[in-house]
Order: sequence, then structure tokens, then C-alpha cells
Amino acid sequence: MAKIAPSILSADFVNLERDIRALKENGADFVHVDIMDGIFVPNISIGIPVVAAIRRITDLPLDVHLMIDRPLRYVEEFIKAGADFLTIHIEADQPQNTLEALDKIHELGCKAGIVLKPKTPAEAAIPYLEKCDMILVMTVEPGFGGQKFMADMMPKVQQLKEWMEDINPDCLIEVDGGVDSNTHTVCKESGANVLVAGSAYFKAADKASFVKLIQS
Ligand code: DX5
Ligand code: ZN
Repeated sequence: MAKIAPSILSADFVNLERDIRALKENGADFVHVDIMDGIFVPNISIGIPVVAAIRRITDLPLDVHLMIDRPLRYVEEFIKAGADFLTIHIEADQPQNTLEALDKIHELGCKAGIVLKPKTPAEAAIPYLEKCDMILVMTVEPGFGGQKFMADMMPKVQQLKEWMEDINPDCLIEVDGGVDSNTHTVCKESGANVLVAGSAYFKAADKASFVKLIQS
């Protein structure tokens, strides 16, 4: 059993409203929104006004993945725009600022999470675990959709899941990148319970069936 968070990075931005509304019709659990600043990752996607616009047309929880440098500067604005979960990369700032950002996210009434890039070991997450409602393990290098799934991230997922069983068993363990109708199984076996899928969801001919497969 898992939840699915389709990433709208692979949506048709000309028809974003249609694609967002279809997420709910197809049974998705979250809307995964990728925010890229062209500095933390070599790509630029969408920003605060688009999150606010999405908020107006869906009641699905918005899972906002910030791939931005020094996210503390912007957490308040993304929460005001309607984020339900706000995840920040632990590589994006000094530890004290990351801790401050997690506290601020909670103070503003939002769920908080951290994200680990593929080269970041599980141990690097330890200082933040008690403040996390979600831990996102990247299974591709952040920045682009449609990349190949990195199965060698699964021990990291298992380790974080194990630690969180003691610290906060309700913490969601999310994976992001290359999740499709083949790779979803090992993600769930490793302990992930929220699976992001961008290209695989939007390419699926029968999206509702794809959603059910990931949720199974
Ligand atoms: C990558 C993003 C992902 C991306 C996933 O930096 O964080 O959310 O959209 O796309 P797929 O599922 O195509 O790998
Ligand atoms: Zn993402």
C-alpha cells in the first residue's frame, strides 16, 4: 500500500488546470509540485504564483518540493500560497538554517520534510529527523523528469524508514525520480509509502489504472 504524488513537471502547462483536475478524478493522493531556481539545480520550473493558482483549483494536498538555494528565505511565501507539505533539501543551506526552516514551516501550520540528493548519505539526515513529517529520497539527480531510476538508493530508503519507525512512525517516506510500473515495487518493499511519478503518470494511457497500480 502506498500513496501516489504525480509530479506536474511532466504536465501540459498549457492545460495545467485540466491536468490538475484529472489528478483527483484518477484517484491520486497528492499533487507534487517541483520548484527549481536555476541555482540549486540546473533548471528553472515554476514559482509562488503558480502554486497559488493550483491551490485555487484543487483540494488535493500540495506536496511542494523546493529545489532552491537557501529555502528558509521563501518557506513563508510557499505556505501562504497553499503548500500542505513543504520539503527542503538538506544540501541547500547550513544545518542551523535548515533546522530553522523546518521549525518555521511547522509554526506556519504546514507539514515539513527534508530531501536527500542521491550522493547524500542517510546519516546526513540524522540532525533533522525529529522535525520531519516527510523524508524524500531522490532516486534521480534533481532537476529533470524522465531520468533513470537509481535502485542503489533503496538501502538509504530502508535505513531512513527504520530510524523513523522509532522516532516518528507517522513520518512519510517518499521517493522521487524514475518511478514507473516496474520500479514501484522495490520502492514499496524498501519502505517508501509515497511515490512521486512524473513522466510515467503523464505518459500512461490509462492513468487511473496506473494510480491504482502504484497504490496497490
Ligand atoms: C526531479 C523532480 C521530480 C520529477 C520526477 O528533479 O523532483 O519530481 O518530476 O519525474 P519522473 O517521474 O519523470 O522521474
Ligand atoms: Zn520532485
